[in-house]
Amino acid sequence: MGSNRRMGDGRNQRRRKSRTIMAANWAPDSWTNAEARQLPRYPDQNALDAATKTLAAYPPLVFAGEARSLTAELAEVAAGRGFLLQGGDCAESFAEHSANNIRDTFRVILQMAVVLTWASKLPVVKLGRMAGQFAKPRSADTEVVGGVELPSYRGDNVNDIAFTPEARIPDPQRMLRSYAQSAATLNLLRAFAQGGYANLHQVHRWTHDFMGRSPWAQKYSEMADRIGEALDFMAACGIDPASVPQLAQTSFYTSHEALLLPYEQALTRQDSLTGDWYDTSAHFLWIGDRTRFEGSSHVEFLRGIGNPIGVKCGPSLEPEALLRMLDTLNPGRVPGRMTLITRYGHDKIEAHLPKLVRAVTREGHPVVWSCDPMHGNTIKAATGYKTRPFERILAEVRGFFAVHRAEGTHAGGIHAEMTGQNVTECTGGAIDVTEQSLADRYHTHCDPRLNAGQSLELAFLLAEMLNEEMAERRKDAA
Ligand code: TRP
Ligand code: MN
Repeated sequence: MGSNRRMGDGRNQRRRKSRTIMAANWAPDSWTNAEARQLPRYPDQNALDAATKTLAAYPPLVFAGEARSLTAELAEVAAGRGFLLQGGDCAESFAEHSANNIRDTFRVILQMAVVLTWASKLPVVKLGRMAGQFAKPRSADTEVVGGVELPSYRGDNVNDIAFTPEARIPDPQRMLRSYAQSAATLNLLRAFAQGGYANLHQVHRWTHDFMGRSPWAQKYSEMADRIGEALDFMAACGIDPASVPQLAQTSFYTSHEALLLPYEQALTRQDSLTGDWYDTSAHFLWIGDRTRFEGSSHVEFLRGIGNPIGVKCGPSLEPEALLRMLDTLNPGRVPGRMTLITRYGHDKIEAHLPKLVRAVTREGHPVVWSCDPMHGNTIKAATGYKTRPFERILAEVRGFFAVHRAEGTHAGGIHAEMTGQNVTECTGGAIDVTEQSLADRYHTHCDPRLNAGQSLELAFLLAEMLNEEMAERRKDAA
């Protein structure tokens, strides 16, 4: 998205030409011959066809060249020269589509990015779970409430969250609404990223003001002060947002789970520059832990698109199956194409992750290792709410860094469900959310998200760990 690293993009395009071959025996609809799980059954095939036909005629939401820029940035992360920050809602919703929501989430992601850039002294790739995150996999096809059984809610792209028989019928017209909302969200994100809102001085000022009010200000104020001093020093030397555009702008990319394949297929287009296929619904698409099995329609679909892609890796994924999947999804071993997003749970990560890391390293697959500390740490509070204790989230992140440190690999990224709103969905954190206070502002349409304060606190903790990784590296190099 208007990358300020255009040089990197050019290099990557040349590299791609020599390294990728277009997927063999693939077409945008070849997934229909494989096993599709987690897809809705639309009652009216004609209505579905009409909706996807309309979508297929709409303009793409992103440009293939932007997806290639992201691959180039992720290749740097895979090589240990960058860090990936991916965050946003578990599920976006039609009801909560407002400029304030988008702005606040964007702002917190940028605040986190500044802290992480400072700590690692590496560029941070900013990737929103935004502008398209509308479809949800579910553990059961139906849901029972008070003795009534109805089809599960599968995200606003599919059906309505209201618990009535009509609301739960999959409606293909919803795809058009998702497209429109994604376009509007993306438009605002582009404006924020390029139009001055992402000014580094401004972002730092927000963090500074926020710190003033938080109980953990003491602990992290030194880091915040040093960032501020560095900015002041640069400004005194004539390096400020007015003279150097990189300080006033940023690259911001979008991502979502490529779950609703009729929607993704309709937005898959052949790039006029390279002839390769791209899913233009977002820059980055990932495949969930429930749809990454062998023979899956979702794997088949993603194999043929040129976008960088993610795979969620949970406890049931064996190293050999992962290697086969990497060979399927990235036979050309293009650096930056694959991001492995691990989600084990605070008490399982150290038992499971090492064997995957060893297998992937041994086979020489270039990947970004990213930690999703959210999905393995969901519990039901005594008050009935689905929640995630903040200390378990942090414990999984610590385990992630410990494993990569022991294996000599780069802890390359974080994947968080978060919002810029002051919600009470995850317990814990410095501004303590208790099980009793969950009811105060529990707004999520799906999983519990970190609020703004918890997100920033996570960033400071990550910063400490990245600092250690970098110190270790310098020691090894010396
Ligand atoms: N352009 C640089 C970058 O994106 C610096 C920067 C500008 C930045 N605004 C930012 C970094 C906001 C983090 C957050 O990395
Ligand atoms: Mn989720």
